[in-house]
Amino acid sequence: MIVCGIETSCDETSVSFFDSRKRSFYSVVSSQIDIHRRFGGVVPEIASRNHTLNIRAVYEDAIKMAGISNRDIDIIGVTYSPGLIGALFVGVSFAKGLSYVLGKPLIGVNHIIAHILSAEIENPIHPPYLGVVISGGHTHIFKIDSCYNFYLIGRTIDDAVGETFDKIAKFADLPYPGGPELEKLALNGDENKISFPIALKNDTNFSFSGLKTNVINTIATHKYTLEDICASFQKTVSLTLAEKINLAIKKSSLNRVIVAGGVACNGYLRNNLPKIISGEVFFPSKGLCTDNGDMIAYTAFQMYKKKRFFGFEDIAVDSIKF
Ligand code: KG4
Ligand code: ZN
Repeated sequence: MIVCGIETSCDETSVSFFDSRKRSFYSVVSSQIDIHRRFGGVVPEIASRNHTLNIRAVYEDAIKMAGISNRDIDIIGVTYSPGLIGALFVGVSFAKGLSYVLGKPLIGVNHIIAHILSAEIENPIHPPYLGVVISGGHTHIFKIDSCYNFYLIGRTIDDAVGETFDKIAKFADLPYPGGPELEKLALNGDENKISFPIALKNDTNFSFSGLKTNVINTIATHKYTLEDICASFQKTVSLTLAEKINLAIKKSSLNRVIVAGGVACNGYLRNNLPKIISGEVFFPSKGLCTDNGDMIAYTAFQMYKKKRFFGFEDIAVDSIKF
């Protein structure tokens, strides 16, 4: 089958075609990062407008790349939640139009779940497993059963991990998005220089706002180099994630873990988490960690097999309660 995946939940406009028989993807991702950088973060209204401007060209480029025509599409999948509401509406409206005109089924994809499933694309892993999403807006641990039902085990009670990287970077006058900038600085720092505490011990929930304030206050004292602070911060993030994931492994008796989302691009975390997590850890490749249409097409295909359709009366939703 040929599955079209459409992603417009934040600042990437992406369309992917997944050929389930060949297990191959043809996709185009148009990033707005350069537009939002000057504002120090994503401006929702500007994001929606740019999705509107880009979506058709991105779709046409992807269809050319796949070497198919509209009539070859069997399933249309689109991110319907969570995300910026205006941005989501662009993708959902485009997908509904396509589904109506082509008379093909429409699948509404949960963006967070798609981040997790993206690890299945290149790794030999299928549910049940634990799925951990660490992105700019989310930090969640789920248990995923063999029918792709999701059960929340833990989540952040304040800032998401990526948000913490971004806010610290903003304070340090580094460009948006802050994650890759902090990672680069940390490469030349001593991770054992400062010991930042881990919040919410013996709890599968996370809290990063205390760590964020602590790091920002430490930067303000000018007592340590930014490199040492970034390395020590990154080590604390890694230890925090591992502690909560290890607790989730104990609670769930599942010992295979997917770690996905934008922050999973971080090389330090990719190297260290498998050493300190008491289970087998799988990451999507770096290109699949940030927002992309491939993960939407792939997840839509899995949801199609479970007959989880999206009706014309269904709409985009900005946040989901798990
Ligand atoms: O998944 P994503 O593309 O968008 C959301 O759904 O949020 O994630 C973006 C987040 C940003 O906060 C960004 O700073 C972070 O992922 N990020 C990183 C790295 N690359 C991206 N954080 C730490 N280290 C990185 N190398
Ligand atoms: Zn995302």
